[in-house]
Amino acid sequence: MSDLSAQRPEICIVGLGYVGLPLAALFVQAGFKTYGYDISPERVRELQAGRSPLNHLPSEWMISGLQKKLWEPTTNPEVIRRCGAVIICVPTPLTEHREPDLSCVRQAARTAATYMQPGALVILESTSWPGTTREILLPILSETGNGSSRQAGSDFFLAYSPERVDPGNTAHDLAEIPKLVGGITPACLDQAVTLYRHVFQRVVPLSDPAVAEMAKLLENIFRSVNIALVNELKMLCDRMGINVWEVIEAAATKPFGFMPFYPGPGLGGHCIPIDPFYLTWKAREYDFVTRFIELSGEINTAMPYYVADKLTRALNNRGIPLRGARVLVLGVAYKPDVNDLRESPALKLIRILRDGGAVVSYHDPYVPVLREKAVAGEMKSRPLTPDVLRSVDCVLVATAHTCFDAELVARHAPLIVDTRNFTRPVADRYAEKIVLA
Ligand SMILES: NC(=O)c1ccc[n+]([C@@H]2O[C@H](COP(=O)([O-])OP(=O)(O)OC[C@H]3O[C@@H](n4cnc5c(N)ncnc54)[C@H](O)[C@@H]3O)[C@@H](O)[C@H]2O)c1
Repeated sequence: MSDLSAQRPEICIVGLGYVGLPLAALFVQAGFKTYGYDISPERVRELQAGRSPLNHLPSEWMISGLQKKLWEPTTNPEVIRRCGAVIICVPTPLTEHREPDLSCVRQAARTAATYMQPGALVILESTSWPGTTREILLPILSETGNGSSRQAGSDFFLAYSPERVDPGNTAHDLAEIPKLVGGITPACLDQAVTLYRHVFQRVVPLSDPAVAEMAKLLENIFRSVNIALVNELKMLCDRMGINVWEVIEAAATKPFGFMPFYPGPGLGGHCIPIDPFYLTWKAREYDFVTRFIELSGEINTAMPYYVADKLTRALNNRGIPLRGARVLVLGVAYKPDVNDLRESPALKLIRILRDGGAVVSYHDPYVPVLREKAVAGEMKSRPLTPDVLRSVDCVLVATAHTCFDAELVARHAPLIVDTRNFTRPVADRYAEKIVLA
């Protein structure tokens, strides 16, 4: 067994995206020789040139890591042979039928199995259903390919550790977020805990990988359910003529037993709209229906339609039919201050409004060009100028990046449908133009 506390093993991060890159940064900054393996040649070329593909992730560590030869992004899986630890951070999407798609995880595990050195530690960080590490990774890694098998806990080590990074959130340093770890055997757990202690301030050992897998899903389901609850209350408050944002602020003054969640135009990102359905799928194997997950999915999925409906009525009240109306969507990324479009409700809103005949444009400084299947074709971000604002019938605030100026928008736009309470600082002065949705 290799001793990961005494040595500083070479590390290979497999999958260089929102999760893999910040993790690589931690290891590189702690002085570990770190390889980054990705199947995407474009991604690797960008990284080899020292450019960060994520607007919220600085590139200084990459440049200095490349110079010091501590950081080596590559498409060559052979580098895994040199590494004492392989950490898998590949995507876990849903299929067209909304079932878990573990093809990237399986492929990454097969790559690790082909190249890993004896005694290597393999850790899965991708989010998945409880049991994935034991049921999917363990058999793949146990196969040597020459008819014999490897034993977890002695010939190699296997653990699961969920990634809890929140892209764009500057309040929590990745190293400060406690790291959950579950090992296939006690020796596997030991190895993984020892490795992570080099770079995380607090490592939390758990009794089994399935506990860590389920804990990650609980965190995301907790968000999905609470967002759905507050979205439902928003729709009721709207009907009752109550400002839901004021309600949430009022409830949040309670110093215990309440945590504020905020309504919006629907769920976005790679995690919250997708991960809960990994559990729904797995639960079926146990004749179990995850009703909270289904219900929150139903409510959150309906939100863009609700917002589009509110916008249509707001235009109608001004004598403007949706067909032919000019709508500027403000913010198309799924959350503030990032360029991530995955599952963004703004894309669905653009499609729904266009289907209704609206002439839709957008402004997002983080997304200069929109080339998404969801919006069928290419769109370019328009500048946010008084002229542009005056030229549309309505501004729809889908994501409130912190750089947006509420005063500018409210002064010049004829109508604002605001899903984020972005206009709050100017609401008193421009109340007649603002519709919360
Ligand atoms: N994005 C988040 O905020 C976040 C947070 C916590 C957990 N997660 C989870 O982490 C995992 C990764 O998500 P992400 O957002 O980093 O994905 P991503 O799409 O940003 O990056 C994944 C990278 O993996 C590469 N890849 C795919 N298959 C590969 C393979 N077989 N070998 C090597 N590279 C491969 C892709 O080319 C891509 O560059 C997912 O399971 C996700 O649910 C994501």
